[in-house]
This record gives sequence, structure tokens and C-alpha cells, in this order.
Amino acid sequence: MRTKIVAGNWKMNNDKKGTAALIGALQQNGNSTARVIIAPAFTHLAQSVALTADTFLEVAAQNMHQETSGAFTGEIAAPMLQSIGVRTVILGHSERRTYFNETDAALAEKVKTALDYDMEIIYCFGEVLEDRKANRHFEVVKEQLATALFSCSAQQWSKIILAYEPVWAIGTGETASPEQAQEMHAFIRQLIAEQYSATLAEEVSILYGGSVKPANAADLFQQTDVDGGLIGGAALKAEDFLAIAKAL
Ligand code: PGA
Repeated sequence: MRTKIVAGNWKMNNDKKGTAALIGALQQNGNSTARVIIAPAFTHLAQSVALTADTFLEVAAQNMHQETSGAFTGEIAAPMLQSIGVRTVILGHSERRTYFNETDAALAEKVKTALDYDMEIIYCFGEVLEDRKANRHFEVVKEQLATALFSCSAQQWSKIILAYEPVWAIGTGETASPEQAQEMHAFIRQLIAEQYSATLAEEVSILYGGSVKPANAADLFQQTDVDGGLIGGAALKAEDFLAIAKAL
């Protein structure tokens, strides 16, 4: 049985006080049988790990560098995350790809490092609007997955969570329809079945991301191949995020 997951990507939001307040509100009002992950800013990860110890919340980082130490000013490495108890990292978010020029090839290196350090990965990918309009979205997604992930061993896939996030739906208020999400998630599962095995494909959690809100979460999560969501804007309000987690 694959795991149901809701993950909140806080992006560059919340200072120290805001982080404590949001975690407090989530704990006070929520609990979940599904996995619920939050990804606060790097500066508040240690604080978040401490605040969420022995609760239903887990903490992830929003990014990491592919090298493990050295002259990379401003970067954060896997062993640093590990040393403060962070075991999960989001890689390949479209904002990292767009604003920080992350390529699938660089992401393949990040994936390798994260797995070498036994970290779990939430791997983001998805097509831009022009690709969808040109009916190239399946091809683009296949290429993104093949470059970054298909050199991983079947065993390593137990550490990989996929997050399909069509770029045109991120922060735009425009969500993929449940049918569009299901169609792509089924395609992804089929790709994994062809590349690895049907069993592995069945076990991989595939999250949908892009303008998920309390109002549309249940319809998306009801789809056979949608195992949860990666949430941006709506993860910043405890009430909304918990309502989304409940919809799982
Ligand atoms: P959104 O962001 O929910 O605000 O569209 C999703 C994401 O960036 O992961």
C-alpha cells in the first residue's frame, strides 16, 4: 500500500515567530493518519524539528546542494540537514528551476547525494503552459523523470516521493482538473512500471501540486493515482492546510 502524504512548502515565508505560531496552530487543531510534512525556511528548520518532535508533523528542507561541503557560499549540504534531524528534502521545485537555473542534470546529482545520505526526496517536476498547449506534456515529464531519477536503483525508490506540479498551476489559482491530474499520474505510474516493475510503480506515492485548496483537495485526492498533495499558498494557513490534510 502506498503512503498518503500532504506536504506544505512554506517557500520564503514566516520568520522565527511566525514559524512557531504556524506549527503551534497545526498541532493544536490537527492530527492525521496520513503523513503530514512541512517545509519551513532553512533558518527555522532546527527550531521546527524541535517543535514537532513526537507530533504528527514531519519536517523537510526546501532544497540542498549536490556537494557535501566546500566553497559554495550560501548553500546547504545534506550532512548539515541530517545533523539537525531533517530527513526529507524537496528537490526540483519549479521555482528552483526557473529562478535558480536548476537543470535535470544538476538535479540528478542532488538526487544521488540525497540518497547517498539516506535522505528521502520529494521530487518535483511538471510541464510549463507552452508544453501543455503543444501537447508535449507527457514527453516533457518523461524526460524530466528519466534524466533525474531513472538511474536510481529499485531499492532507492523507497526513498522517493514524486510531486507532479504543472508549472501553469503553481501559485496561479488555476488547478489542473482532477481528470488532468489523474491522466498524468497514471502515465507516470506506467513509466515507472515499464522502467522498473509494476510492484514498484504501485508503491510510489505521487503527489499533485499547484493551487490545491480546501475546496478542490477532495476531488483531486479521490483520483486513483493521486496519493496526496504538495501545497504552497494554502500551507501558510493552519486551517486550510489541515482541511486539505483531512481531505486525504
Ligand atoms: P501553490 O504552490 O499551492 O501555491 O500553487 C504549490 C507549490 O509551489 O508547490
